[in-house]
Amino acid sequence: MPDEKKVCLSGSGLTKVFGFGRQKTVAVNHVDFNFYEGEVISIVGESGSGKTTLAKMLLGLLKPTEGEVYFQGKKRDISTHKKKKEYWKSIQAIFQDPYSSYNIFRKIDAVLLDCINMRGGRHLPHAKKVEMMAEACGFVNLKFEELTNKYPFELSGGQMQRLMIARIFLLNPKILLADEPTSMIDACSRATILDMLMQLRKEIGMTIVFITHDIGLAYYVSDSVYIMERGKFVESGSADEVILHPKEAYTQRLISDVPKIYEEWDLSTA
Ligand SMILES: Nc1ncnc2c1ncn2[C@@H]1O[C@H](COP(=O)(O)OP(=O)(O)O)[C@@H](O)[C@H]1O
Ligand SMILES: [Mg+2]
Repeated sequence: MPDEKKVCLSGSGLTKVFGFGRQKTVAVNHVDFNFYEGEVISIVGESGSGKTTLAKMLLGLLKPTEGEVYFQGKKRDISTHKKKKEYWKSIQAIFQDPYSSYNIFRKIDAVLLDCINMRGGRHLPHAKKVEMMAEACGFVNLKFEELTNKYPFELSGGQMQRLMIARIFLLNPKILLADEPTSMIDACSRATILDMLMQLRKEIGMTIVFITHDIGLAYYVSDSVYIMERGKFVESGSADEVILHPKEAYTQRLISDVPKIYEEWDLSTA
C-alpha cells in the first residue's frame, strides 16, 4: 500500500443534544469521521450547523451526549483533570474571537511563559525561555521586546491572532482546531494568518482541523473536507472530490454562494 495514512483523531456516532422537550436542539447528530495525521481537514457548514459544538467536544470542553472520540486509535480518556491536561498537550485550538481566548489581565509574556511551562519547560533558565518566546514571536512577525509589558487588549485583532499562533508554535500540539480563526480580521491579515498556519503545519507536521462557513477557504487550504448541515456530515472526501464534484444540493448551494472561489484565496495578489 502506498504510504499508509495514520488516523490521529476519529469519532463514532458523536452527538450533542442541548436542552429538553420542546427546547431540545440536536446540535451534532451522529457524526463519524477519521482525521489523518498531517492533513488539513475542513469542516464546512452554515452558521448554526454544529461546527463549534463539534469542536468543543473534540477538545473535551463539552461532553458528548452520545458517541465516542478516539485519539491515536484509542478511546479517548479525559475522565480526570490530569488526563485532560495531558490530552491538551496534543490538541489545541484557536477561536474566532481571539480576545475571548485570553485572560485579559495576564500580560503577554505571562501568556507565552504558560505555554513553555505547559510543555515541561518550567525549569529552563530564564534566558532560554526568553529565547524561545522571541523565536515564537519572530515566527509570526511580532517583536517580543515590544510585547513583554503589554496586555492582550492592547493588541490589534490581527496581532492577537498572530499571538495565538505564537502560542501554538510553543505548545507544539499534534492537532490544531481552528474555529473560524480568520473571520474577524481583514483580508490581508487573513492571508497572512493562513500562510502561517500552513507553514506551522509543514514545520511541525501538525494536523489542522479548519472550521469555517467559507467553502472557498476550505478548498484553498484542505486535503479533506466534511460538509456539515444541521448537525450531520452530509458529504465528505478530498477537497477536489467534494468541492469540484459536489453531490449534495447543500454543498452545491454553499459553492454557488462563493462566486470567486479560485480568485479570492490567491495569495499571490495578497
Ligand atoms: N450551549 C448551548 N445551549 C443550547 N444550544 C446551543 C448551545 N450551543 C450551541 N447551541 C445550538 O446548537 C446549534 C449549533 O450551534 P454551533 O455549534 O454554535 O454552530 P456553528 O458553530 O456551526 O455556527 C445551534 O442551533 C445553537 O443555537
Ligand atoms: Mg461556530
